[in-house]
Amino acid sequence: MKLFLLNLLCLFCVATGSVRAVDSLPQLAQMLRESDDAQLQLDILRGISAALKGRRTAPMPAGWDAVEAKLAASANSEVRTLTQTLSLTFGSARAKSSLRAIAADPKAEAGARRTALDSLLGIRDPELPPLLQQLVTDPAVRGTALRGLAAYDDAATPTAILAAYGSLGAEKRDALNTLASRNAFAKPLLAAVAAGKIAKTDLTADLVRQLRNLKDDAIKAQLTDLWGVMQETSPDMEKEIARVTRLYWAGGSTPGDAPRGRVVFNKVCAQCHTLFDSGGHVGPDITGANRGDLAYLLQNILYPNAVIPNEYRATTVETKDDRVITGIVKEQNATSLSIQTANELVTIPRAEVKSTSLSEQSLMPEGLITQLKDGELRDLLYYLSRPGQVALPQ
Ligand code: HEC
Repeated sequence: MKLFLLNLLCLFCVATGSVRAVDSLPQLAQMLRESDDAQLQLDILRGISAALKGRRTAPMPAGWDAVEAKLAASANSEVRTLTQTLSLTFGSARAKSSLRAIAADPKAEAGARRTALDSLLGIRDPELPPLLQQLVTDPAVRGTALRGLAAYDDAATPTAILAAYGSLGAEKRDALNTLASRNAFAKPLLAAVAAGKIAKTDLTADLVRQLRNLKDDAIKAQLTDLWGVMQETSPDMEKEIARVTRLYWAGGSTPGDAPRGRVVFNKVCAQCHTLFDSGGHVGPDITGANRGDLAYLLQNILYPNAVIPNEYRATTVETKDDRVITGIVKEQNATSLSIQTANELVTIPRAEVKSTSLSEQSLMPEGLITQLKDGELRDLLYYLSRPGQVALPQ
């Protein structure tokens, strides 16, 4: 029995999409219906999930209805969750409506709501945008909702996000990334910045680069108005490093304030880097880097493109429905592509990809510090050079 199962799953794994794999699904469904062994059920469910990874949808195998009904009552929560996720992939209306209800329910547990949204986003549920637009004001799930909206070319999205923007906390970043992901969203975003509804300084260098990657002349012109010309590479790296070094030491023997520098770090760097005990994992953890050396810091902050380890070169992916994603390719296979952006890991089925291009640029943007005031820059550099963490200012 066990051997037979392994065989079936293996065939299924190597031959996903082939007639053979499709043939074996009804057999697996039958086994799931007939067995009451939770471990065996888990093995089968995991096997099917692994084989379908990277596919948004698949045809429902014969007999799956009965599997869904039976395993929904399983005492094992992993069996229940896997069954629901697979049912969703197989287009089950019951799974869709129950997940939408969980996501929308303010009394449901926040983690369960986010998982429900992620699952629905995974199949790109076409009915999701109005719910997501409504959820951008719900603190429990707004980050997921804001990120999810980037996947849909829905005309109502910019208005919904811009209306909620002022009330957002750390999720402002998700809001901005989504608005910067498509031409149709970027124009209202830039209009809001021009009108002073969004602070110009909220558009950090990575967002400006993402906006430039949309390759739209009107957007580029507006960015130049708002931001000035982006310095892509400096004619004279050493001179610029010397200038900032002088500026730093002009602050005296203790050039900056470490707690205030931590605030600047959290605003401009922490989404990508961990330092000491907190931060993101898009770029390397810089706790162990040569931070005591000002020249090292400046070279890396001012000229991230001078030396780029290959695993950190940015790739720009354009989807067939005009979404532009800039990030590092983390995983790719025949069916899908996973890209780590500055704020999330996005998986896109190959069939939805229009083009990908590997750039000569680091995912770390240039121009990160051009918006900082001299004092903020000194605080940041001073904080970066400290051996250990400091408390945030009161
Ligand atoms: C959008 C993501 C992103 C942001 C924002 C960002 N970085 Fe980076 N950073 C990276 C990536 C990716 C690398 C690795 C590739 C490279 O060296 O260019 C990197 C490299 C570095 C390095 C070199 C690390 C090493 O191991 O040699 C330092 C130092 C650094 N960043 C500091 C900063 C500081 C300070 C800030 C804020 C002012 C910042 N970064 C903001 C993504 C980012």
